[in-house]
Amino acid sequence: MDKRLTLKIDKIVEETTNIKTFTFKHKLDAKPGQFIMLTDFEGGEKPFSISNCTKAKFSITVKKIGDFTTRLFNKCVGDYVSIRGAFGSSFFISKNKVLLVGGGYAVPTLYFLAKVLLKAGAHVTLINGARTKSEHIFADRFKKLHIDVINSTDDDSFGEKGTSVDVARKLLGLRPKLGNQKHDFDFIYASGPEMMMKALQDVIGEIDYEFLFERYMKCGIGICGGCTMDPLGVRLCVEGPVLSKKKVEQLTEFGKYHRDASGKRITF
Ligand SMILES: Cc1cc2nc3c(=O)[nH]c(=O)nc-3n(C[C@H](O)[C@H](O)[C@H](O)COP(=O)(O)OP(=O)(O)OC[C@H]3O[C@@H](n4cnc5c(N)ncnc54)[C@H](O)[C@@H]3O)c2cc1C
Ligand code: FES
Repeated sequence: MDKRLTLKIDKIVEETTNIKTFTFKHKLDAKPGQFIMLTDFEGGEKPFSISNCTKAKFSITVKKIGDFTTRLFNKCVGDYVSIRGAFGSSFFISKNKVLLVGGGYAVPTLYFLAKVLLKAGAHVTLINGARTKSEHIFADRFKKLHIDVINSTDDDSFGEKGTSVDVARKLLGLRPKLGNQKHDFDFIYASGPEMMMKALQDVIGEIDYEFLFERYMKCGIGICGGCTMDPLGVRLCVEGPVLSKKKVEQLTEFGKYHRDASGKRITF
């Protein structure tokens, strides 16, 4: 819904030196994959995925990357921010054997998804990847869900060596197999850097999937056209950020370019 809400920060967890989780005491009507638009009243409003949502609280997990997120990092428990949402499409909830593939700060939204999938009766396997151990997040929380988890780091400092996609390739049996096991999944979900999802698309084969996309967003409600993807013109803030395999396969800009605030194309 597009109603603006001013909320007090209830809890802050420092996940790494540049990633924090902010929790708010508010019953948000949200589904896994959806996002909120958040402002700190000091300039700008930015999209953030929902990393957890219960009957009484919800959380976002934020990477400090520029001016806005640095200001957010300086907030304390009891400070106020203002939000709109939840917005956008959500992940399909399967009841079958599913694989979740995540990378970096985009992994936490898969935590919210994993909880809902488990409730629906799905068998969940997660690949939780990061570049290095100090950037690897949510391992403790996923462990408590009692799902099958494979942690990985590009530099071999934690879990399996390699990217999330390297691990997925082994798991899906297209390369030398992990522990000599070939896994069959009914559905794959991914949330991470776009080039990770582009590489993942090549190893998925015939399995159905959904990917969560991030594009520059301004209005968050489908008016400005800033977040559309070529050539379908899908507005990621309304028809996305979660897109089906059918839509992803038609996107000519996927893994090639995105747009900045002015609409100028930026090559990946
Ligand atoms: C659907 C969606 C979900 C997101 N979920 C998360 C999340 O859970 N955690 C998280 O840390 N980040 C998330 N982001 C990205 C987050 O919005 C940006 O990191 C943030 O806006 C950066 O602002 P800044 O001023 O700190 O950095 P800037 O210096 O302004 O920008 C740094 C980079 O952040 C991205 N960015 C900046 N402004 C926007 C914008 N208005 N919309 C989209 N991307 C932008 C651009 O790639 C830019 O290059 C999400 C983005 C989208 C579209
Ligand atoms: S951000 Fe304006 S249409 Fe999507």
